[in-house]
Amino acid sequence: MVQIVHLNGQFLPLEEARIPVLDRGFIFGDGVYEVIPVYSRHPFRLQDHLKRLQHSLDGIRLANPHSDVEWTALVRELIARNEGEDQYLYLHITRGVAKRDHAFPKDTPATVFMMSSPLLPPDPVLRQNGVAAITAVDNRWLRCDIKAISLLPNVLLRQLAVDAGTAETVMLRDGFLSEGAASNIFVVRDGILLAPPKGPLMLPGITYDVVLELAAANNIVFHVEPVAESILRSADEIWLTSSTKEILPITHLDGHAVGSGTPGPLYRKLDQLYQDYKATIMRQPSS
Ligand code: PDD
Repeated sequence: MVQIVHLNGQFLPLEEARIPVLDRGFIFGDGVYEVIPVYSRHPFRLQDHLKRLQHSLDGIRLANPHSDVEWTALVRELIARNEGEDQYLYLHITRGVAKRDHAFPKDTPATVFMMSSPLLPPDPVLRQNGVAAITAVDNRWLRCDIKAISLLPNVLLRQLAVDAGTAETVMLRDGFLSEGAASNIFVVRDGILLAPPKGPLMLPGITYDVVLELAAANNIVFHVEPVAESILRSADEIWLTSSTKEILPITHLDGHAVGSGTPGPLYRKLDQLYQDYKATIMRQPSS
């Protein structure tokens, strides 16, 4: 399978895509990105992803190189040029190629890279049994709402999870839950779904929004409020959410069982609602 990518206006095989080493993404990690799932060739929540992309670009003071109409056309073309009904798209925008200097370069076009990869459904065994996670101090910066390509803290935090033989690192900042190294985290306690509020200390997840919308539409009681470490540690259920992992139950945290140590009833309900919702998206006619 030839993987076709988009680089600065051109579609070409991945192996042929090249960027100069002075790209500020390479030199400084100076850029932002998006990950968009595609089901049955339909980009999932594209407008929401483009809105978050704009928020990230605003956050790093980089002009959006494309209008939403242009992005939509590029996304559709990239999907069409790649094999596979289910894909995930990676969009990456940097401040371009310039002599190495921390300050912004003048009149430098942004670098735009887009790639499609096969999207595999989350492993049914993980949905059935849940995953283990560890906790760690959230030592990232104070603008975690920007989906920045400079992911070194997230990389190190995720590796802690891998080193511990677990799937994710759940981060705590000043005694409160923030999010996972590459996911948002929900907690269920006494039958109530708890979600940390959006703000500068976490990425506003698109899956997070879908979960709360589904909860609201199905009379599931939820509170969007700061989640203290003590609540996290006495949770009946913990879930992680992301565009590529959907909703997964965390059944062990720092080696202790969460609730019964198996996926809880509210997880099963929300996961089913999520699968049903995805199915309605897939049935929509292609535009
Ligand atoms: N990551 N928080 C962080 C730090 C993330 O990196 C992600 C997703 C999320 C969930 O956001 P969403 O539901 O919009 O995917 C939360 C993507 C998948 C990644 O970096 O590959």
